[in-house]
Amino acid sequence: MPTQPRFRYEEVADFVAGLAARGALRPGTRAPSLRDISTQQRTSLSTAVQAYRLLEDRGILEARPQSGYYVAKAAPVLPVPAATRPSSRPAKVELSGLMLDLLAHASDETFVPLGCAIPSPRLLSSSKLDRILARTARVKGGHCNTYSPPRGEISLRLEIARRMLRFGKALSPEDIAITCGCTEALALALDAVTEPGDAVAIESPSYFGLLQVLRAKNLKVVELPTDAVTGISVDALQEVLAAGKVRACVLASSFCNPLGCTMPEEEKRAVLRLLARHRVPLIEDDVYGDIHFGEERPLPFSALDTHDNVIHCGSFSKTLAPGYRIGWITTGRHMGRVLESKFATTLATPVLTQVALAGFLQNGDYDRHLRRLRRSFSDTLERMARVIEQAFPPGTRVSRPEGGFVLWLELPRQVDTRELFSLALRKGVCFAPGVVFSGSGKYGHCMRLSGGHGWDARIEKGLRTLGAMVCRAAAGR
Ligand SMILES: Cc1ncc(COP(=O)(O)O)c(C=O)c1O
Repeated sequence: MPTQPRFRYEEVADFVAGLAARGALRPGTRAPSLRDISTQQRTSLSTAVQAYRLLEDRGILEARPQSGYYVAKAAPVLPVPAATRPSSRPAKVELSGLMLDLLAHASDETFVPLGCAIPSPRLLSSSKLDRILARTARVKGGHCNTYSPPRGEISLRLEIARRMLRFGKALSPEDIAITCGCTEALALALDAVTEPGDAVAIESPSYFGLLQVLRAKNLKVVELPTDAVTGISVDALQEVLAAGKVRACVLASSFCNPLGCTMPEEEKRAVLRLLARHRVPLIEDDVYGDIHFGEERPLPFSALDTHDNVIHCGSFSKTLAPGYRIGWITTGRHMGRVLESKFATTLATPVLTQVALAGFLQNGDYDRHLRRLRRSFSDTLERMARVIEQAFPPGTRVSRPEGGFVLWLELPRQVDTRELFSLALRKGVCFAPGVVFSGSGKYGHCMRLSGGHGWDARIEKGLRTLGAMVCRAAAGR
């Protein structure tokens, strides 16, 4: 005979807790809605509410405003990578020959796609976008088969300005220029504020495409010490600025690639104050900002800037249409130089894809799509981290990004991921070796893994294969 009175809501809570314990409801995923659980458990809605409150108190569920209840994430087992400590000397960018190899293999679908940070078309709203593109070509084909105005299509600039209002940045479409992806935006920004031979302060490790652009422009870099959670060291930046070593600074707005770090807002403000004091402009790369796992999108630097000292670069490549090659730049006082440079490089951005994207954004489908995408990437990274805990050797550290879709792994020192790269390709797995994220050959014992494909059995198998190879390398076999 039961000795304690047992309330119905406790039974419902135990039922849901059991699902979580058996893995039927996984960490970070949405729990059944209150209505669904009350129907399924044949109980009232208020009993379901009581049950979920109890599960919240027990730390099993988390309530997210306007989104429902989620299964709390499991506590991470592995530590995050140690803060990096690169040299503060301005240096030429020396690129690893592995980068082209990586790009060639990363787009080859026969390899398990843990290499490049490209979202899978399966996760993008491709068919809806296809329909809008087809209709745009049918209805506005003539209008689209010409050069766009220098800043790009007004309909798209209006939509981008509207989206920026959400994080308190009031811009007119005249403040925005459309570019061929974020890559062109970064290149134009660098053209506007640097001369060949100047040095630029960047995170370390840093996105290899940025390193490539810096090298092509004959710019040197100062790689800043960077923490895997909170981003660059503000003190180190202060020293670099005081020594007059750099002409510009390029930082990720949030969820930087590859470390996944996001600077806390106070530190972003401190960076902005420092840069303004030394008259060094900031170029921010906000390509991952919309893929936040928390409720709020972290504010980009430009939303906190009061000195007109930030050039904001973004694109739709990580959230909607990597193949359309559409990005944007907001330049403040640098618009004239940016447009001159745009004219001299690509002249104009293709019109059809701009108009189609504007149509997609006007439809209001983007936010629903983003909510799905964030859930998918958050879930994928969570699952990847669980497999890494099981399959990689002791001494492995893994990043814990709050957005985006890449993980950065620091492995035992004896593991050389350059060698591992070709071995893994022979086993059908592609990943990004750490060395491509440094302009000075660092991070040979690190790797970046992309969750852009989403989760499936092939990704899990590829991860386990890679884990076994890293274990062998760590053991010197
Ligand atoms: C941090 C970062 N910036 C920019 C890009 C390139 O963006 P786009 O494809 O829009 O040129 C990437 C692509 O991987 C990236 O990771």
